[in-house]
Amino acid sequence: MVILGLSCFYHDSAACLLREGRIIAAAQEERFTRKKHDPRFPANAIRYCLEEAQISPENLDYVVFYDKPFLTFERLLMSYLTVVPKGLRSWLEAMPLWLGKKLHVPKVVQKEIGYEGEVLFTEHHEAHAASAFYPSPFEEAAILTMDGVGEWATASYGIGRGNEIRLMKELHFPDSLGLLYSAFTYFTGFKVNSGEYKLMGLAPYGKPIYRDPILKELIDVKEDGSIRLDLSYFDFLGGLRMTNKKFERLFGGPARKPEAEITQREMDIAASIQVVTEEIVTKMARHLYEETKLKYLCLAGGVALNCVANGKILREGPFEDIWIQPAAGDAGGSLGAALSVWHRYLGKERIIDERRDSQQGSYLGPAFPAEKVKSFLDAHQYPHRALPAGDRARIIAEQIAAGRIVGYMAGRMEFGPRALGARSILGDPRKVETQSVMNLKIKYRESFRPFAPTVLEDKVSEYFEIDRPSPYMLLVADVQKKRRFPQSSLDGLGMMERLKSKRSDIPAVTHLDYSARLQTVNQRDKPDYYAVIAEFEKLTGCAVVVNTSFNVRGEPIICTPEDAYRCFMRTEIDTLVIEDFILYKEDQPPWKEGKEWRNELILD
Ligand SMILES: [Fe+2]
Repeated sequence: MVILGLSCFYHDSAACLLREGRIIAAAQEERFTRKKHDPRFPANAIRYCLEEAQISPENLDYVVFYDKPFLTFERLLMSYLTVVPKGLRSWLEAMPLWLGKKLHVPKVVQKEIGYEGEVLFTEHHEAHAASAFYPSPFEEAAILTMDGVGEWATASYGIGRGNEIRLMKELHFPDSLGLLYSAFTYFTGFKVNSGEYKLMGLAPYGKPIYRDPILKELIDVKEDGSIRLDLSYFDFLGGLRMTNKKFERLFGGPARKPEAEITQREMDIAASIQVVTEEIVTKMARHLYEETKLKYLCLAGGVALNCVANGKILREGPFEDIWIQPAAGDAGGSLGAALSVWHRYLGKERIIDERRDSQQGSYLGPAFPAEKVKSFLDAHQYPHRALPAGDRARIIAEQIAAGRIVGYMAGRMEFGPRALGARSILGDPRKVETQSVMNLKIKYRESFRPFAPTVLEDKVSEYFEIDRPSPYMLLVADVQKKRRFPQSSLDGLGMMERLKSKRSDIPAVTHLDYSARLQTVNQRDKPDYYAVIAEFEKLTGCAVVVNTSFNVRGEPIICTPEDAYRCFMRTEIDTLVIEDFILYKEDQPPWKEGKEWRNELILD
């Protein structure tokens, strides 16, 4: 039995393939088309999934779409009717795509991949809930999904038990925590559906001085964590912008223009909306616990990528443990939709291993075997050396310890927005400069965010105040007190100056508030990456490396050896590792390309 799950036509298109309920492959379309957040039909991702399973479209038993387009259409129509004629422009902009593709998914599937069978539909939050619960290691758990909006739902509460999911309660559009956070993302000058991460990263620089106005004017938070937005402050029902003049008045002026200087106001706004979000999410979690009394909680939906809020739920309880779908955004809907068909529609049993989830480290994308890499390098005559198996990890670790920045591509590509050591750029966390070198010379961004650490799973508590693995980089924890350096007051200093102060013995991965967005790695899920960090520890005494995604700003994470080499040559990455081959920048022929490529990237 083979099931193909699809998510597309909104943002972050993706495909996922299950065989007998096991995840065989999952990938996001953007990685193949090189267009960030690509919303188009995921033709490339589907092709890859079929290749990985070694089947053709006629072998598919079901194709399932992660959303019910008619319900979403109804929501758009109703929203339009409430604000007529204000929403006319956005309505006219949205319509051609709706009439052309979104309402005709089965026909599109048939035309694009030649699949003749049945196309099923799950509801959007059902797909999120399934992606949160089914791959988790829990026999039963409470489920919480939160995002911008699906058809009507913007959040849902439920229970998962065995192969059953029961959704008990929904919050409906336009009352949405995701849209609220996105409105602030827009207002602080970042890109909606992409810059939410930056807003979260900016929060530690500010003081939450707008918390009370937000809670008093913009939203009404109920005891169960559900919210009501005061729509007189927002413009997303009819307009093309998220916030309006009344919103501007509340926050002392217009929205920050993208790329303009970030001022203390934006930092304070970021701190405020982050605090409010954490309060709401915590309330939701508590309410869910009161209603279910279950030990565990599963999370998905775009808001579940807010790892600061996740860290808070974990620390403050009352749930004993939580599991978050690594592809928590809409890309993960493809996985949830497919799992929903297997377990809910077909009623198949769920086999649970309590010690481990079934996400397989989220290494679910394409891999490139050594022969393919070798023939690619040879065909282009790119100077390279083979890494002998016994010395591979040591040689790479020596590069990192020498302060060189290493582009690292090995094994199957990650499914989800975070790079987890299969498509990562690695650096030395002990040096303060690593942060600015990586930002300015490699990612081409003047970022205020420190980078994320990967730490050996068995050493995590020596470095961070957390007692369990965080394999998907979806939790934030503080650096251990003994590793911190006292800080004199940083008030009045510019943002970048504040970031440059040495806050711990792993400064490149320690945020202003001593927090870190960490990933743990173990030998079972990612032996090659584990070995590199273990060797780095032998050399330096430090079991942590800097791990940032292998891409430049505005570009999707790399997928192929071609992508890896291009990114290596366009940036100041010093060393490139692709599988068992190593390339040094100084050996490479000059790269014949100007800087024009940077103009093509979309600023996030
Ligand atoms: Fe969603």
